[in-house]
Amino acid sequence: MEARRKIILDCDPGHDDAFAIILAASHLDVLGVTTIGGNCCLGNVTKNALKTLEVIDRTDIPVYAGHSRPMVAELVTAPQFHGESGLDGPVLPDPVTAPQKEHAVDFIVETVKSVDGVTLVPTGPLTNIAAALNRAPEIAGRIREICLMGGSVTFGNWTPAAEFNIFVDPEAAYRVFNSGVPIKMSGVNLTRQCAVSRERVDEIAKIPTRTAKFAVDLLNFFLGTSKEAASLPAANLHDACAVAWLIRPELITAAPMHITVELKGEFTRGMTVCDYRHLRCETPGTDVTESPTMGFRGERPNAEAALRLDFPGFMDLLIQTLRDCP
Ligand code: BDR
Ligand code: CA
Repeated sequence: MEARRKIILDCDPGHDDAFAIILAASHLDVLGVTTIGGNCCLGNVTKNALKTLEVIDRTDIPVYAGHSRPMVAELVTAPQFHGESGLDGPVLPDPVTAPQKEHAVDFIVETVKSVDGVTLVPTGPLTNIAAALNRAPEIAGRIREICLMGGSVTFGNWTPAAEFNIFVDPEAAYRVFNSGVPIKMSGVNLTRQCAVSRERVDEIAKIPTRTAKFAVDLLNFFLGTSKEAASLPAANLHDACAVAWLIRPELITAAPMHITVELKGEFTRGMTVCDYRHLRCETPGTDVTESPTMGFRGERPNAEAALRLDFPGFMDLLIQTLRDCP
């Protein structure tokens, strides 16, 4: 069996980010949790990461605060889904632990340089990851892969075209998708399949652990806001999908394709443009000079885009994890 994957989880907790932290800390070798302003301001998401690690007794995992705002745009947050604190629902005391002094970007750069085969798992806007690649472009060749939650092969969730994480910092996302690092993309087309209903929450409520209680409090709040803000009948654990892909790859069916990010469109800024049909790629045996899309040819797939989730399998993983946590 392969040793636990070494990852850095870059997140903006966020209800679904909290589930990503729980799964990652339980099944992967988390070298650090880095935070990014997104669902809420940087101060709150950093506190929320610390609180989540305290609930699961994993304060051995260091937390590093990163950028408070996107590279170019103003920060957009999502209180309509995550509440004013970014993690409304569970009633928890302030964290007793504190973030490290080092900036998240410094931590990412230094860790990737010194540890072989690190996977980056961003579940918020991609600002920290792009900043690390800009600071030290040579790390691109050392990152095993970037397994992110963001974007979509089909519809958006923040605008008709764009998913929230990419919409918040499209310039950073463009940098990451065009970095040459292999990418696994769990877009909203996939994560909408990770729909935790009231019945599932009642099932989790039967698990007698502190972490399961925390999960239920998170889900009760998130179910409510998902219904009020987006008329959704269930809570989508978007970010947990990216982590589950690394833990149990068989839960996800994916396809290789070229993906880039729209930066200019009046209606499509922040859209992940997914070349599902390989129209921009060179197809062996075709004469590109005769192709009507010749001007776009020559791209190779830079990503695996997740298409289908084995949701019952995902729930089995989550439920077992919540049973095994404190
Ligand atoms: C993404 O946006 C955030 O609100 C969630 O935490 C998730 O990362 C879903 O579009
Ligand atoms: Ca998130």
